[in-house]
Amino acid sequence: AAAYETIRTERTGRTALITLDRPEALNALNLRLMNEVVDAAESFDRDPGTGCIVITGSPRAFAAGADIKEMRPRSYMDMYLDDWFAAWDRLGAVRTPTVAAVSGHALGGGCELAMLCDILLASETAVFGQPEIKLGVIPGIGGSQRLTRAVGKAKAMEMCLTGRTMDAAEAERAGLVSRIVPGEELTAEALAVAETVAGMSAPVAMMAKEAVGRAFETTLTEGVRFERRLFHAVFATEDQKEGMSAFVEKRTPDFTNR
Ligand code: CAA
Repeated sequence: AAAYETIRTERTGRTALITLDRPEALNALNLRLMNEVVDAAESFDRDPGTGCIVITGSPRAFAAGADIKEMRPRSYMDMYLDDWFAAWDRLGAVRTPTVAAVSGHALGGGCELAMLCDILLASETAVFGQPEIKLGVIPGIGGSQRLTRAVGKAKAMEMCLTGRTMDAAEAERAGLVSRIVPGEELTAEALAVAETVAGMSAPVAMMAKEAVGRAFETTLTEGVRFERRLFHAVFATEDQKEGMSAFVEKRTPDFTNR
């Protein structure tokens, strides 16, 4: 495995765990951490032994944003020529389902990283926000787009224009997170959710992810058509026969991911 400095990775069964590990900077997303997270996620994604990927931080901070100290001196040309943050798009392109387990600060790029994941679980201490405006900048990893789709214009505008944060309860009410879990159970619960996903047929889970993701990219008619084609396609899998046979035979399915 690659020698990572800013993250820790582990695999349990078909579930992969990526833990952001820059405690001295509250997991601020510097270039190194970005490349490590993306590299780890892509490696797990390529490995057919992985059925789901969990990304988490520490109890104090999921991530307190992009690294302000690293960005401060940079010019427009520096940012443009390096295509700063473009690597994060590769995380969005990972086909394996991903779960963000958020405790503490999820600010700026931290909130954006959480929103890049497919399932978002929060502990009671989670705080979400896009405070970039207070630094004289705006979100750069999709926050203005994904937050708006997740919570609507009213809250997204207020958060992006004032930097106001949302606590876990508000984030759940607004639909940003699927569930709130007690802090001490967050990682275990995220891993349990991941294990559930990883126990499904991997290609079918990928198609389910692709279908829901398409809802954010297209019209309803085209999205339903896309879903219908994938729905037809699952009948080309062995796992469809296995899943439906197991139901009829009143037993647990044994998916082969084919
Ligand atoms: N970048 C670099 N370093 C950061 C950081 C960041 N985003 N967030 C925290 N740190 C560092 C602090 O500088 C501090 O380091 P030193 O001890 O060396 O000074 C260390 O982490 C601990 O932070 P604090 O002492 O500030 O901890 P706190 O508990 O008092 O406050 C906090 C926590 C409210 C999260 C505060 O750290 C904070 O406001 N951080 C910045 C949040 C932010 O503005 N994020 C957006 C960044 S821009 C961005 O993300 C652009 C984008 O769209 C991708």
